[in-house]
Amino acid sequence: MWDKEANVARGLAGVIAAVTHISLIDGEQGQLSYCGYDVTELARKSSYEEVSYLLLYGELPTAGQLEAFEQLLLDNRAISPALLDLLRNLPGAPKPADALRTAVSAMAATDSSPSDVSRPANLRRAVRLIAQMPTIAAAHWRMRQGEKPIDPDPSLGHASNFVYMLFGRAPRQVEARFLDMAMILMAEHGLNASTFAARVTAATLADIYAAFTSAIGALNGPLHGAANAEAMKMLLEIGSPEKVEAYIRAQLMAGKRIMGFGHRVYKSGDPRAIVLREVLATLDGDLNKPRWCKMAMEVEDQVHKQKNLYPNVDFYCAPTLYSLGFPMELFTPIFACSRSIGWAAHILEQYDDNKLIRPDAVYDGPAQREYTPLAGRK
Ligand code: SDX
Repeated sequence: MWDKEANVARGLAGVIAAVTHISLIDGEQGQLSYCGYDVTELARKSSYEEVSYLLLYGELPTAGQLEAFEQLLLDNRAISPALLDLLRNLPGAPKPADALRTAVSAMAATDSSPSDVSRPANLRRAVRLIAQMPTIAAAHWRMRQGEKPIDPDPSLGHASNFVYMLFGRAPRQVEARFLDMAMILMAEHGLNASTFAARVTAATLADIYAAFTSAIGALNGPLHGAANAEAMKMLLEIGSPEKVEAYIRAQLMAGKRIMGFGHRVYKSGDPRAIVLREVLATLDGDLNKPRWCKMAMEVEDQVHKQKNLYPNVDFYCAPTLYSLGFPMELFTPIFACSRSIGWAAHILEQYDDNKLIRPDAVYDGPAQREYTPLAGRK
């Protein structure tokens, strides 16, 4: 039987599983930085393309480097007719997040040099994945609505082009800016479950497509990247700020989780939620749509009062994306498209200094025993 004193780290809580140069999360201070730059400053002053370059190469790009990187993404945005056919013919009309996972897995079959495992080849694949995931998500969503997919527009930036491919119109300046900010805030977050899944897969020397498929699979769970849509469903269910207190009390009394709240690392608040709350407040003022910020802040207040929990990135991201006109089923695919750069950076980091990731377990099953042949089993 296992040694009951063995200190099993459930959920690997508190276990240091890697050395990374990509991001630093200070859970006590509620701070997050990418390669030394505070994420709130990056969100306010940079573009998703600049931050992607930073996470891939470790430095913010010069103007020339940024222009070349943006062109690289542009050149890789279009998806193959074969991939479009796969999306069109997926059986059972899967959820957008599952369709994205399937399509990313299928991208491996059309890689131009599958046996090349060099860093430049994996960087090429990373750019291909980052550039094409929004195209996949938008094309699948439109075909699911019975509409034709829209080809990428080379005149638009990464975030704006996603809006264009989805809705057939370029976003308003304010919408483009806020989506870009949200994507930066969701881009990278250390060894979260989906990134860790990617690193475990890459550590077996499986290819980057397999690692991305593992990551998207992990992200699609409600305790991780699917919490945003669940949080929005909750806000819609509550209906008005006056009903928040009773709703939260009832949920907690029933032992339910309040989606978008709590975090394994942040114990005094998630800095990304603070920026997104400001974005939502501005959107409420700007777009003549239902006001979500007042109700969301009431939920934040009640969950803190009743359970001493803080909102995480998913909570304010949800009404922000909803206010920007995105359907809830696309919230997690948008998270995946944002986090694609974080996954890529970690997968490359794992390949650069690899060791198979294989933790141990303590056994708590039956003690050693004699085999009983089938005829002798009663
Ligand atoms: C993301 O890791 C990352 O970095 C993830 C992420 C990223 O950028 O990649 O930040 C993105 O996934 C954010 C989290 C999104 N998920 C949710 O919002 C789902 C709701 N949250 C929880 O289920 C929970 O807070 C977790 C999963 C986020 C963290 O869980 P932990 O660290 O394993 O903590 P726990 O589940 O052991 O909870 C500790 C206590 C428990 O109370 P007791 O049972 O011990 O009395 O806090 C309670 C929990 O019941 N609790 C909650 C709660 N979260 C924790 N109670 C009600 N509602 C919640 N949301």
